[in-house]
Amino acid sequence: MKKPVLHPIIILVTILLLLSESNSDPRTQIVEIMCGHQPEHNSTIYVPNFINTMENISVQMRSSGFGIAITGSHLDTNYGLAQCYGDLSLFDCVICYAEARTVLPQCFPANGGRIFLDGCFMRAENYSFFHEFTGPTDHPVCGNVTRRDVRFQDSVRRALSRTVLDAPSRNGYARAEVGNGNNSAYVLADCWRTISANACRACLKNASNSIMGCLPMSEGRALNTGCFMRYSDTNFLNDVPENGNSRGAVIVIIIVAVSAAAVLIIGTVIGVYMWRRRTIQQKRKGISDADKMVKILNDSSLNFKYSTLEKATNSFDEANKLGQGGFGTVYKGVLQDGREIAVKRLFFNNKHRAADFYNEINIISSVEHKNLVRLLGCSCSGPESLLVYEYLPNKSLDRYIFDSSKGKTLNWEKRFEIIIGTAEGLVYLHENTRIRIIHRDIKASNILLDSRLRARIADFGLARSFQEDKSHISTAIAGTLGYMAPEYLAHGQLSEKVDVYSFGVLLLEIVTGRQNNRSKTSEYTDSLVTIAWKHFQQKTTEDLYDSNLMLHSCNNNMSVKSEILRVVHVGLLCTQEISSLRPSMSKALQMLVKKDEQLPAPTSPPFMDEKTMELNDTSDNPILPFQHGDDASNAGISHSIFYPR
Ligand SMILES: *[C@@H]1O[C@H](CO)[C@@H](O)[C@H](O)[C@H]1NC(C)=O
Ligand SMILES: *[C@@H]1O[C@H](CO)[C@@H](O)[C@H](O)[C@H]1NC(C)=O
Ligand SMILES: *[C@@H]1O[C@H](CO)[C@@H](O)[C@H](O)[C@H]1NC(C)=O
Ligand SMILES: *[C@@H]1O[C@H](CO)[C@@H](O)[C@H](O)[C@H]1NC(C)=O
Ligand SMILES: *[C@@H]1O[C@H](CO)[C@@H](O)[C@H](O)[C@H]1NC(C)=O
Ligand SMILES: *[C@@H]1O[C@H](CO)[C@@H](O)[C@H](O)[C@H]1NC(C)=O
Repeated sequence: MKKPVLHPIIILVTILLLLSESNSDPRTQIVEIMCGHQPEHNSTIYVPNFINTMENISVQMRSSGFGIAITGSHLDTNYGLAQCYGDLSLFDCVICYAEARTVLPQCFPANGGRIFLDGCFMRAENYSFFHEFTGPTDHPVCGNVTRRDVRFQDSVRRALSRTVLDAPSRNGYARAEVGNGNNSAYVLADCWRTISANACRACLKNASNSIMGCLPMSEGRALNTGCFMRYSDTNFLNDVPENGNSRGAVIVIIIVAVSAAAVLIIGTVIGVYMWRRRTIQQKRKGISDADKMVKILNDSSLNFKYSTLEKATNSFDEANKLGQGGFGTVYKGVLQDGREIAVKRLFFNNKHRAADFYNEINIISSVEHKNLVRLLGCSCSGPESLLVYEYLPNKSLDRYIFDSSKGKTLNWEKRFEIIIGTAEGLVYLHENTRIRIIHRDIKASNILLDSRLRARIADFGLARSFQEDKSHISTAIAGTLGYMAPEYLAHGQLSEKVDVYSFGVLLLEIVTGRQNNRSKTSEYTDSLVTIAWKHFQQKTTEDLYDSNLMLHSCNNNMSVKSEILRVVHVGLLCTQEISSLRPSMSKALQMLVKKDEQLPAPTSPPFMDEKTMELNDTSDNPILPFQHGDDASNAGISHSIFYPR
């Protein structure tokens, strides 16, 4: 597939900008995101309009640190505004805006929202709000560290009133530093460029009054409809650009480069770049943000454009839906070159910085093994987070083993091959990669089958990305209760043995064709693990075998039967209650393969309380606090929970 190529001149200029001003801070910390309360009118139209708006603004941000755009018509019109505060360089502005546009779509499906970051602001609505400067959501956000120092408070007041006076006549932006030493106060005031000087004055007066209420705290920020204001006892302001003309110069270079002798200009740019680089390297030690950005610009093979994926899936057409996992809905897609892909549309946007998420994806995508589904890339900074995987036509294992007719496709030989493949994939994740990955969500629906029905583990590494997102993890967990190790379920204790437990459950499911977490008829049935253990003790394991194993058609029935029994045995060793007794994945694999090795007797699996409990979005569950009951009910989750003793 042809990836969009950034114009080399733009890249050079970006690098130039970035090196010349990289000792500054884009201040991407999010102060607050405020979402509207009305749902958008029509998603089919809203989403592309919103994307258009953000793309359009993006172009303007790069050249002026400010942008507005209007896309669409009637009820579905999208109005957007974004602005970086006056002390940000254009390069930092691009970074701050990237963060803003990644996070603001969290408001979806609300038809609007605002996000205040420490370095920039963005707002989108379905009406023209450009001239608004006051409103009911205006409020201060105060720090939590007290500064009793009266002189500091005096500095703050003076700095605030100075910026209120200055800003309206200076394009809406002013900064002030008042006091000296530890009495210093630093203030930034910024009005959106769409409001008049009078509106700016009114907005800043209100903002200034409201954050004075933060004193004696060391920090105060006003999040107003038409302006942003902040005071602090630490100097958060970026240095005044050493040379006010430098931005202008760069823009001139771009224009000249595009219109005239590009080669010559590129030469000049490189020359200037080399020179800047040398002087800057002498001056400074770390340029980690800059490094990161260069990496992202260059290493763009993982980046898919949102519009490309949207087209590939026919706008996420229901007809292309492959399934729903713990982390999102999966769609089949076809790229323009005919390549088939699977696109996972994550349930909600990642709350990480786009760059962090991107790095995570970068790591996961570098993990390669014949039994792991390949992650091809993502759309990390678009309006939604999308992951792109290779497409596997045969879907997932659960569709076979839990279906009495499709189950016939998988005889014992095939199933054993799937078991070994899954074990090998897990050994690789646990032991052989640069990073240790605990999957946490091993289950039949996460084992995909390739064209020759060999196992490929899906969704590995994702939990890593979402570690901080407790609500999401609990949603993911809830889908998979039957597979969860007791120590993880009850105490959140996480180790490789959690995967070993799930793998054990999977083995029993593959042999029996029964699902561990489904008690279809009676609410008093044991879990599959308990049933298997009881039968194993009574040496009646054969009663449980899935009839689709088609043992009769096999000639060497005896050796096959002992192989199956061995798999059940290993399954029970893997699901022992005490995690330290469970084998490691490589040990489990060895047990499965080395048929003559003596296996220890399994100790008991976790005792499963026989009363089951329906989980729904109103349940007040002590183990799995659902913060997003809606997510759970939307995903149709209604499982039984077994409480460990
Ligand atoms: C949304 O807009 C599309 C395109 O105009 C239209 O086909 C669809 O029926 C609309 N959906 C609703 C719910 O109005
Ligand atoms: C951005 O939107 C404005 C109107 O809001 C329009 O005039 C302009 O052509 C758009 N630019 C791009 C690059 O789409
Ligand atoms: C904005 O969207 C809401 C909800 O869809 C709708 O009621 C309202 O009329 C829209 N406003 C404008 C100006 O289109
Ligand atoms: C103050 O706020 C910071 C940032 O929100 C937080 O990390 C810190 O724990 C808070 N300190 C106290 C004493 O509340
Ligand atoms: C403020 O700075 C002065 C000297 O610069 C020092 O003597 C004093 O202890 C400092 N006060 C506090 C509260 O840190
Ligand atoms: C600022 O404006 C808001 C909204 O109009 C109002 O509720 C608030 O009381 C004002 N605050 C001050 C300090 O004037």
